[in-house]
Amino acid sequence: MVELYKPQIKGYVYGKAEVPKAPISKEELKLLLDSALWTQEDEENRKIIGEVIKENMSDMLNQIVSYFGSRDYLIYYFKDERGETTETEYVNNTVDRLAQWLLDICFRPIDENFVNYQYLIGIRHTFDGKGKADNVKTIPHIPMRYMITCIFPVTAVIRSFLERKFDDPKIVEKLYDTWFKLQVITTAFFCAHYTKEGWW
Ligand code: HEM
Repeated sequence: MVELYKPQIKGYVYGKAEVPKAPISKEELKLLLDSALWTQEDEENRKIIGEVIKENMSDMLNQIVSYFGSRDYLIYYFKDERGETTETEYVNNTVDRLAQWLLDICFRPIDENFVNYQYLIGIRHTFDGKGKADNVKTIPHIPMRYMITCIFPVTAVIRSFLERKFDDPKIVEKLYDTWFKLQVITTAFFCAHYTKEGWW
């Protein structure tokens, strides 16, 4: 199932031939999911979380944007190559792609296309791809350490929306765990391009 945030999103090329093939095999995908204790129940929970995200998309985006925007050392990565001016169009396009990603990780099948796209997103945070989707000259690289620490804020942002939707705290916990696993798994794919060949 495909849920589109907008009909046209600059630089959004999911499933297209230009998406590089990740150096990650089907077996490695299977084991990676298992290592995060991914279950059939998580698979079913993804769609439920996706519906919650659809209902709260603008609030959720605002919270993520304000996490980045309120920290100079993070907003820095959205600036021009001299680190002086924030590239507004770059920010807007990135937020659109982020919104689409929030839907994709809930609704797209976790298959080869999915892995390849997470791999491309990783590349787009590095010297090899940053700014290319928007044809913008920007700070060229985001350190891997922030890719990892960001797992927490992007995970935690979902909690209040789950709590608002579901009265049963056990359901909230289960859905929260699925979302947490999804963040860890996708960040593992993002990091593939950050490591030396054979080290991932
Ligand atoms: C768990 C951590 C992170 C997640 C889940 C995440 C998610 C995303 C997503 C989904 C996109 C759009 C990808 C696309 O379709 O092109 C993106 C792009 C971007 N993110 Fe992140 N991100 C993370 C960490 C960071 C950090 C720490 C920064 C530092 C400020 C950052 C800054 C950016 C920038 C500048 C872009 C645009 C890259 C480009 O195409 O030039 N991200 N991120």
